[in-house]
Amino acid sequence: MYESIRVFGKLPTQPHVSICLMFADKTLHSCDQPLDAHHARIISSTIKRPDVSGDSGEWTPIQCADGSVVGLLGLGNRKDLSADIIRSAFGKVLKRLLKLEVQDVLVSFPNELFASLNAKTVGIALGEGIGLANWKYLTFKKKKSEDAPIGELSLSLVSNIDPDDLIEATKKGVALAASANVARTLAATPPNVATTKYIAEYALQLAEACGNLKCKVIKGPALKKARFVGLEHVGKASENPPCMIELVYTPTSKFTKTIVLIGKTISYDTGGLSIKTREGMRGMKYDKCGGMAVLGAMHAISRMKPGVRVVGLLPTAENSISNNALRVDDILQYPNGVSVEVTNTDAEGRLVLADALIYGSKEFAPSAVIDVATLTGGVVVGLGKTFAGYWCADAVLREQIEHSSSVTGERVWRLPMHDDYREMMKAKQADLWNSAPTRDAHPIQGAAFLCNFIDSKIPWAHIDIAGVADIDHDKAPFCSGPTGFGTRLLTHIVEQWK
Ligand code: BES
Ligand code: ZN
Ligand code: ZN
Repeated sequence: MYESIRVFGKLPTQPHVSICLMFADKTLHSCDQPLDAHHARIISSTIKRPDVSGDSGEWTPIQCADGSVVGLLGLGNRKDLSADIIRSAFGKVLKRLLKLEVQDVLVSFPNELFASLNAKTVGIALGEGIGLANWKYLTFKKKKSEDAPIGELSLSLVSNIDPDDLIEATKKGVALAASANVARTLAATPPNVATTKYIAEYALQLAEACGNLKCKVIKGPALKKARFVGLEHVGKASENPPCMIELVYTPTSKFTKTIVLIGKTISYDTGGLSIKTREGMRGMKYDKCGGMAVLGAMHAISRMKPGVRVVGLLPTAENSISNNALRVDDILQYPNGVSVEVTNTDAEGRLVLADALIYGSKEFAPSAVIDVATLTGGVVVGLGKTFAGYWCADAVLREQIEHSSSVTGERVWRLPMHDDYREMMKAKQADLWNSAPTRDAHPIQGAAFLCNFIDSKIPWAHIDIAGVADIDHDKAPFCSGPTGFGTRLLTHIVEQWK
């Protein structure tokens, strides 16, 4: 559960791999500082090679006679340098080093790097890049792949700036990646293993291990008593019973604010009686990724110890099929007085999120509520795998989300809301239907549905991560599979809370 990468200043011994950073203008600056004369000579002749361009992420290793490796890592154009570039360049390098079974790495930073980015930004991005790249889901593989994660890696950082800030920040980046990896591992766990009960037990164990998180699982008769009608109905066809997982972090000092984080946790989405197509069902184990993002964020928050109370809610169910399944035409009566006619059992996420929105806003007097969900295929069509779509009517919360998004590289794009969309969700025989007869604007329909379950005075954001929760090809620092999207974004929002 904890990271296997240790970060130091200069190592006492000669490292196995030394990384020198280089911009696209191909000038070496203070890069050769920690290298002996022999290695420095190799670097300055390599840099002149026509095939070495310094493009971002370009890795040119040179094998030395003593078995060590010196390599040039390109960072692209100096003026374009960003945390994103550092995160993915180091992610790329780490993936190459995995194949060499390297145990110690030295990174030498040119002074020029800190002209545009501070040590904190550089260190966090570096730690995240390496930590996120050092993950792969191999639980069910007989033969471990050659890019399996490194058990123990020592990372030594050398620069002319005060080393403490850089080391501290890199450790933080590694820790944030470890939390995102908690989310990714559980997200990747198949639905026959990661059942609703398994996810609840995992959350209980995580809270126990963290020490400063309280975890409660509301299930069975207590679920009925709490009037979680969405969970009850969506989950009733499955032999894996639904539950509401609640995690609470309370600061040790006096606090005045509470933030509620909600994550859609559908352990598997068949679509229910409105069954998905063969191709549409594939990958629906990732329908729990909203909840996993919240779980990962709670793990990070327990370690970062911010001064606000944070509540994580994971409405957890399996959307399955049986003679006892939720039907199209059923009407659900929610405890806030809103009735919902089910027009499509595949629009199940909003039904369980409604429970968490009602409960979260009533029980904890939150200063803000943020829900994260793999809610609609429409957001994937609209924004692809590059941005999550989000809705938020509160200008201050919006600013916080967008700032955290730019720092963490977890990209969000705001989509519109209008009374016309709210009108679309009004049903004939109940107050709302869960899906309008037309697919027009269907990601917005999701947000327009959800806003009926939260007091409009509470700042609230809905983030649809259906596109960004997983990828189907390697893209540094990620590999194909879940990305842990949301863990770092939510953690940063909470940490910055004023
Ligand atoms: N879990 C899906 C959304 C989804 C689709 C996530 C593709 C990831 C990739 C969700 O429960 C769903 O099925 N949504 C429907 C909503 C519709 C019935 C209004 C959809 O997107 O078609
Ligand atoms: Zn669905
Ligand atoms: Zn779903």
